[in-house]
Amino acid sequence: MGKPGRDVTKALLPELITQLRPDLTIAQGENVTHGKGMSPAHMRELQGAGIQFFTGGNHAIERSAIKPLLADPAEPVIAPLNQHGVEAAWGVKAIETKHGIVQIVSLLGTIFPNMAGPLQNPLQAMDALLARTPGPYVARIVNFHADWSSEKRVIGYYLDGKVSAVIGDHWHVPTADAMILPNGTAHLTDVGMVGTLHSSLGVSVDIIIDRWRDGVANKNDIADGGPYQFNAVLITIDTKNGQARKIEPVQKIVETL
Ligand SMILES: [Fe+2]
Repeated sequence: MGKPGRDVTKALLPELITQLRPDLTIAQGENVTHGKGMSPAHMRELQGAGIQFFTGGNHAIERSAIKPLLADPAEPVIAPLNQHGVEAAWGVKAIETKHGIVQIVSLLGTIFPNMAGPLQNPLQAMDALLARTPGPYVARIVNFHADWSSEKRVIGYYLDGKVSAVIGDHWHVPTADAMILPNGTAHLTDVGMVGTLHSSLGVSVDIIIDRWRDGVANKNDIADGGPYQFNAVLITIDTKNGQARKIEPVQKIVETL
């Protein structure tokens, strides 16, 4: 979330990568640049910290400078597959790892109905995607960006056994329900955010209180200062069958950077 999110990532991620040795590091990038979208320069900054792939959300296509990168299959960034204004090839890409090719998909939940046009139903979008991209992939990862806990949970069951992981976000608040579903898909309703801890989803609390109590229409401003939070999950996947073996939250709070 904004500059604090980038700074926390740069401060903590390199050491976490050394400790945990992930084969692939994915971040949801729709709030990277002042909370709205991600500029190419900020994407490069985070690649330098060790992030290898970026998924999107409801702000993913607000900055037009990112669109040429979304359109380039070699650039590791996607936007929600079922969002109006997102080309089919921008919503799913594959990335090579030392164990094989991983497919990564970004989807919006149905809470975002009026963003420049109608949303495609996310379940139908996944049905069509799985039919048109048989693989082979060693893993398929879905980032489900949504507001309703019910749909975030249910899409996990809908895709259970068809993909390796369905990880929810958009709340910026981590949930405590990480689990492996019956047919081998890792699931989490919400992974949380990276940025300032004492904030309203990364935005300054005072601005939100003024708006809520008195109806003052202040512009959102990114909260800054410590303590800071870093929320992620580490997923272990069996590359022989694409099933998840383990999902573990990786959560840090640090006072200063
Ligand atoms: Fe969002």
